Amino acid sequence: MTTQEKFETQTFEAQTYEEWLKFAAESLQSNARDNPYLDAKTDVYLLLSTVTQRRQAYIMAFPETLLTQEEMRRLSQLLSRRAKGEPMAYILGERDFWSLNLAVAPTTLIPRPDTEILVEKAVELVKNKINSLHFNRQSFSILDLGTGTGAIALALSAELTDWAEKFGVILRIWGADFLPDAVELARSNARRNHIHNVEFVQSDWFDNIHESFDMIVTNPPYIDAQDEHLTQGDVRFEPLTALVAAENGFGDLRHIIEQAPNYLKPQGYLLLEHGWQQGEKVRSFFAQNLWQGVETLKDYGDNERITLGRLK
Ligand SMILES: C[S@@+](CC[C@H](N)C(=O)[O-])C[C@H]1O[C@@H](n2cnc3c(N)ncnc32)[C@H](O)[C@@H]1O
Repeated sequence: MTTQEKFETQTFEAQTYEEWLKFAAESLQSNARDNPYLDAKTDVYLLLSTVTQRRQAYIMAFPETLLTQEEMRRLSQLLSRRAKGEPMAYILGERDFWSLNLAVAPTTLIPRPDTEILVEKAVELVKNKINSLHFNRQSFSILDLGTGTGAIALALSAELTDWAEKFGVILRIWGADFLPDAVELARSNARRNHIHNVEFVQSDWFDNIHESFDMIVTNPPYIDAQDEHLTQGDVRFEPLTALVAAENGFGDLRHIIEQAPNYLKPQGYLLLEHGWQQGEKVRSFFAQNLWQGVETLKDYGDNERITLGRLK
């Protein structure tokens, strides 16, 4: 009997938290050969905590608590999805990013910790700029292209809005995605996190953008359609629209770098996330007569990951 059938034909004999945790961890572990990305123990605690609405501390303190039939049924469904390798973020419907808790959906990418490096650098640049002697304007504008869940735009708002206000500067942030469902998800994430100064628009890159910004940030699709990683781990469940780009993965990066000067104010910044082997080529897309200070930053694994430049 396959693991899938085992879950589906399981009769729900009364089980305690402890019994279910043991059963579930063993079931996932027996799947780990096909699916080395599972972290069985952490995952089963999270699933149990989600379904019972109990904190892990409560589960550990009262392991003899009996599960209800409805809880057992829900747990069986979620465990079955996890056993097939579906990312925990899609199963739970949420993921933490920066200081935020974001709803996630299969329409777009699950936000990654590496993208926080882009946020960190953007925060540093905005603070330096507003702090500088030459900054005498009353607003600072940022565009997040390919916003997905809204992760980057919302993190920048959460980090910078109050800080900018202390300097009398109003932060204006836009997020754009070409998928209506992603735009809706990003808007709901703004409400979920009580963020009111980010506007989300539907736009195929710059097609629906009609002004210029102090900073453009983006984590566009950058994977080659033939890349074998697309058939492994979490990305198998994420949409190709968020992952794959033409020109061996460089098409969207090149397009954005070439078009950005038309949508940036003088001295405006462009920051892009890209693949760990793409740094050199991405730097070459920045025309020398237009850009200055082009550099690439490394991620936590010491790989080239974020390239930025400032318009002359
Ligand atoms: C790698 S995901 C990044 C999502 C989010 N910014 C993050 O960092 O988690 C790329 C996003 O770009 C969007 N996208 C792809 N092609 C696009 C296009 N032509 N115009 C606008 N957005 C696009 C996808 O829908 C997806 O949400």
